[in-house]
Amino acid sequence: MKPALLLIGGGGHCRSCIDVVESNVHFSIAGIVQPKSDSSGKVLGYPVLGCDDELPELVSIFKYALVTIGQVKNVQPRISLFEKLKELKAELPIVKSPLAYVSRHATLAEGTIIMHGAIVNANSTVGPNCIVNSQSLIEHDVAVGSHCHVSTGARINGGVSLGEGCFIGSGVIVREGVSIGEYSVVGAGQVVMRDIEPRSVLRGKNA
Ligand SMILES: CC(C)(COP(=O)(O)OP(=O)(O)OC[C@H]1O[C@@H](n2cnc3c(N)ncnc32)[C@H](O)[C@@H]1OP(=O)(O)O)[C@@H](O)C(=O)NCCC(=O)NCCS
Repeated sequence: MKPALLLIGGGGHCRSCIDVVESNVHFSIAGIVQPKSDSSGKVLGYPVLGCDDELPELVSIFKYALVTIGQVKNVQPRISLFEKLKELKAELPIVKSPLAYVSRHATLAEGTIIMHGAIVNANSTVGPNCIVNSQSLIEHDVAVGSHCHVSTGARINGGVSLGEGCFIGSGVIVREGVSIGEYSVVGAGQVVMRDIEPRSVLRGKNA
């Protein structure tokens, strides 16, 4: 029997994650964990099993979990949940869509999801608790730090380094070899041609 995965956070990103997990042969879905204010009902037919406060009990029953809340400007909720799950000794698997390509020369870390149509190419590393979203590209020799979100259709070219906690918006292009400092936010559609200081926010003309 496939191990059942708890999905932590039941919003839009969770619905995309459900589709990836359903298409993955390794896991089934136990149910969803929501914030306290919203801890009943169903998400795409899967039961909401409880709220974040009930994680100790839920993890003791199900053991496997994935953080499925999204991330744009604020990465902290994903980091806090990941750390709480680690404290509870949950297993945080790598979840990979069968429609994604991950080079056998690439390395992924726990709690990271590779979504439909994404590519992670040779000699790249993707840290823990990352989202490599649908149709994004992590080219060769890229280093993606912990807790990053590479959004839909973003192109991270060869040798780029993304510090911890970065958000890379939809359709972004990052030139080869560029370093993006930790906790930076790169808005949708930006083209990044030079290194970026930590905690930068790039939108409009300032990329
Ligand atoms: C960068 C971002 C986080 C900034 O959000 P914000 O601080 O709320 O900024 P606002 O939406 O209030 O926009 C502020 C100004 O910057 C401009 N702007 C914002 N993001 C921009 C972008 N990516 N490219 C160009 N201009 C942008 C807005 O048009 C607005 O201009 P104005 O003041 O002349 O009207 C957001 O715009 C963004 O790009 N989000 C990512 C969306 C995405 O990729 N989602 C995919 C999830 S998988």
